[in-house]
Amino acid sequence: MPRYIIAIDQGTTSTRAIVFDRAGGIVSVGQQEHRQIMPQAGWVEHDPVEIWRNVQEVVGTALGRAGLTRHDIAAAGITNQRETTVVWDRRTGEPVYNAIVWQDTRSQSIVDRIAARGGADRFAQITGLPLATYFSASKIAWILENVEGARERAESGDLLFGTTDCWVLWNLTGGVEGGVHVTDVTNASRTLFMDLETLEWRDDILAEFEVPRSMMPTIRSSSEIYGHAESSSLLRETPISGILGDQQAATFGQAAFSAGESKNTYGTGCFLIFQTGEQIVHSANGLVTTVGYRLGDEPATYALEGSIAVTGSLVQWLRDQLGLIDSAPEVERLAASVPDNGGVYLVPAFSGLFAPYWRPDARGALVGLTRHSNRGHIARAALEAVAFQTRDVLDAVNADAGVPLTELRVDGGMVANDTLMQFQADVLGVPVVRPVVAETTALGAAYAAGLAVGFWSGPEELRANWREDRRWEPAMEPAERERQLRLWRKAVTKSMDWVD
Ligand code: G3P
Repeated sequence: MPRYIIAIDQGTTSTRAIVFDRAGGIVSVGQQEHRQIMPQAGWVEHDPVEIWRNVQEVVGTALGRAGLTRHDIAAAGITNQRETTVVWDRRTGEPVYNAIVWQDTRSQSIVDRIAARGGADRFAQITGLPLATYFSASKIAWILENVEGARERAESGDLLFGTTDCWVLWNLTGGVEGGVHVTDVTNASRTLFMDLETLEWRDDILAEFEVPRSMMPTIRSSSEIYGHAESSSLLRETPISGILGDQQAATFGQAAFSAGESKNTYGTGCFLIFQTGEQIVHSANGLVTTVGYRLGDEPATYALEGSIAVTGSLVQWLRDQLGLIDSAPEVERLAASVPDNGGVYLVPAFSGLFAPYWRPDARGALVGLTRHSNRGHIARAALEAVAFQTRDVLDAVNADAGVPLTELRVDGGMVANDTLMQFQADVLGVPVVRPVVAETTALGAAYAAGLAVGFWSGPEELRANWREDRRWEPAMEPAERERQLRLWRKAVTKSMDWVD
C-alpha cells in the first residue's frame, strides 16, 4: 500500500511539490521560483513552459529527497494560483502567449467596455464576482483580441484555455497525446464564466467576452480521479485526483470545512475565506462569492472571500524595487528597529484595491512622512498594511455573516513573522491562531486527492490532524486600535483620490 500523497502547488512566485504522510505531516519538499515578467506598468506575466518544467523538476526533487518512487505515492493533487490565464494550442501544446497573471490589469478597457453595457455587477448574481481584471474572462478576451491569429485559431477549435491547474493537469496526463482538459469547480468559479448554481459555463457571458466555448475545460469536482500521469512522467500511472484553487485548498488544509469556519492566508496577496456551506451568500460588503469545494458527487459548498492583492509582494517590493532589505525575512528585524510606525502609513494599491473597495484606479500611497521617518518606519508601515487590509476584509465578513468571528486561523509564508501576527491580533481584537502544519495550501490539495482514492476516510479523519501551534492574543488598548484604524482609513482614501 503506498504510504504517501504528493501535492503540486503552482503558486504566483514559485512551484512546489510536497509529499505528505497519513497524519498530514510533511515528508519532503521541492521548490522552484519562476520569472515574474513585467513588460509594462500593470502587466504581470509568467512563462507557462517554464512553469511546466518546474513542476517536473520539483516533483523529482520532492521524491528524491525522501528516497521515494511513484510506487510510494497513492495519488497526486494539484493546487494553483487562481485566475492566471494560459491559452495554448491543443495540437502543438505551445502557449500562444505568456500566462497573464491574476494581478495584471491590462484588460481594464475590456472590463470597462462590458461594464458599460449593464454595470460592474451585471454578472454578480450568477457568478458571485464583480467585473474586474482580476478574473480570467477579460484576460482570455485580451489574448484573443491582441495576439495575431489567436481569434481565428480559437474559433476553429485549436486553442484551449486553462488556469494553471488545468495547464499542469493537461501536460501531466499526456499533453498533445491525449491530455485531460479539465478544471475543478473552485478554479472555474474564478473565471467570471461559471454559474454558481448549475456549476456550468454560461454561454451568454462567454458570448459577451467573445470567448468560444470550445476553449473551455470541462468542470469537475475538487476530489475525483481526473486521469493518470503519463508514461514518461516520474509519477507514471499515479492517479491525479484532487484540484483546488490555492485559497480554497488552504481552507481545506485548515480543516475549515463547515459553514462559519474560515482562514486567512498570507502569500503574495492575502485571501480570507469564510465557508457558508451549501448556501450561496451574496455579499453586501465588497466580498466575492466563490465555490469552497466539491467532493465527488456531493453538493458543492460555497464561501465568501475577501481578496487582497498585495501583501507578501509588498515585502518583495521593499527588497527588489526599493532595496530596503536584502532578503524578505529581514523586514521583521527592520520593522522591529522602531517602537511604532512613527505616523507612517503605506497603502499598497499596486493593482488598484481589491476587497472590500474594488477600485482599479487606486494607486499606492505612502503618507504621514516627517523628517523623523526612516527605513524602519517604512518597513513597519508595510507590515502593518498587511494587517490593516485584513482588518478591512474581516469587518466585511462580520457584516455579511452577522456574527463576528471569534478567532482567525492563519497560514502562509508570512505567519512566521511574529511582529506581524501580534499586530494582526492587536488590530483585529481577536486571537490569531496558527496550526502546526502551516503549509495548508499543499495539504488541502493532498487531502482532496487522498479522499478520492480512499487514502483518508473522510473530513472527520482530517479534522483530527489539525493541531494548534501558536496563538497571538490581542494586547492593544481599544482606544489606540481605533486611532490607528482611523489613520489607516484616511490613508486608504488618499490612495483612492490619486486618479490621473
Ligand atoms: O487569487 C490569486 C491567488 O490564488 C494567488 O495566491 O498564494 O499564489 O499568491 P498566491
